Amino acid sequence: MRQTFVHVGVLGTFLASVVVASATQEIFKFDAPGFRLSNAIVSPEWHAYIEQLRQNDSLPGISVGVVRLGEDKKPEVQLASWGRRTEEGDGHNMTSDTLFGIASCFKAFLSTSVGLLMDDYPQGRNVTPLPEGLKHFDEGQRHPPQGTELESKTYWRRRLKPRLGPSTPVPTQQPAEVTPPSLDWIAYTGLYKSDDGYLPVTLCSSQSDSTHCRAVVSDFATLDSAIAVATSLYSTYPAVWASHLRLQHFSGDVFNFTFTALFPHGYGQNTSAFEQFESGVTSGWVEFQVDAAKGAVEGFSLVRDLNVCAARARKTGGALSETADAWFGKV
Ligand SMILES: *[C@@H]1O[C@H](CO)[C@@H](O)[C@H](O)[C@H]1NC(C)=O
Ligand SMILES: *[C@@H]1O[C@H](CO)[C@@H](O)[C@H](O)[C@H]1NC(C)=O
Ligand SMILES: *[C@@H]1O[C@H](CO)[C@@H](O)[C@H](O)[C@H]1NC(C)=O
Ligand SMILES: *[C@@H]1O[C@H](CO)[C@@H](O)[C@H](O)[C@H]1NC(C)=O
Repeated sequence: MRQTFVHVGVLGTFLASVVVASATQEIFKFDAPGFRLSNAIVSPEWHAYIEQLRQNDSLPGISVGVVRLGEDKKPEVQLASWGRRTEEGDGHNMTSDTLFGIASCFKAFLSTSVGLLMDDYPQGRNVTPLPEGLKHFDEGQRHPPQGTELESKTYWRRRLKPRLGPSTPVPTQQPAEVTPPSLDWIAYTGLYKSDDGYLPVTLCSSQSDSTHCRAVVSDFATLDSAIAVATSLYSTYPAVWASHLRLQHFSGDVFNFTFTALFPHGYGQNTSAFEQFESGVTSGWVEFQVDAAKGAVEGFSLVRDLNVCAARARKTGGALSETADAWFGKV
């Protein structure tokens, strides 16, 4: 059985946040001894399918490298690309040498390195004893993870779908009855720090009057409705996978959060605002802890994975500030 590995790279607007990484990349050359270039791996139907995918998802360019073992068990490589690598016209077509900013590459590296280690057993290069109960690796166990191509395609498509606003607002689940926050909006603004691996955040509201906050709020106002702007807290969040944090009021001291990559002035020649985030991955809710007597906010608990937090709570019986995924203390 032939083993085919496919890696699909997609040039999408999300690259703005990770494009810094490409400055230190080098072009990946297929000059390894024993590799043979082939034009016969990718069928014309698959070629047409990728072009359709590119057009359907408004992707400027796609580049694909396919490696498989030929009849003689020697590796064959086919490189192909579709679309353009810049916004300019002809003469700027995507090529197999076009560099991408890449993200979420650990799967490829992890599965390849584990595959190499596994392959060392039948080749007799690894003599480490196998775990108890496992006598040998058979063919089935040595196959690469199934559905790799499909999974990565679904992943990229999900990742690259821009979220638009305010013309197509993200549906929000409303509580039966919304109660206002315990304190004035302005009491929730200011600097918060976490010891749980998150960057510090400076929350702003539409009532904040610092130059910084006015800029943050006006960036969000390109996407959020006026009502949403009046009932949200916003911060910058300069990570590789996000640029901003939005806390949209749910009820009481509970807010829904989204770590999002904001493009208030669009990207490249297209200046329409949009944002990008992975729903369910970089979103959840936070609950502020308020000292009512002092009329002050102490901090907020961030819940990203409800099941994990619930399991932690069952185990320790601790309060939300201890069992949540992160605690941000107000400075
Ligand atoms: C592209 O969109 C058309 C029309 O919605 C659909 O029929 C087709 O299956 C799509 N192709 C791909 C590759 O997603
Ligand atoms: C660029 O790609 C288009 C469409 O695939 C093709 O028609 C055109 O000839 C290509 N231009 C160059 C310079 O290769
Ligand atoms: C917002 O948070 C509340 C409280 O946890 C939750 O019930 C609701 O589903 C969340 N809404 C969205 C859109 O995530
Ligand atoms: C410009 O960007 C917006 C938002 O991402 C999108 O809806 C629109 O289709 C784009 N326009 C063009 C001409 O690509």
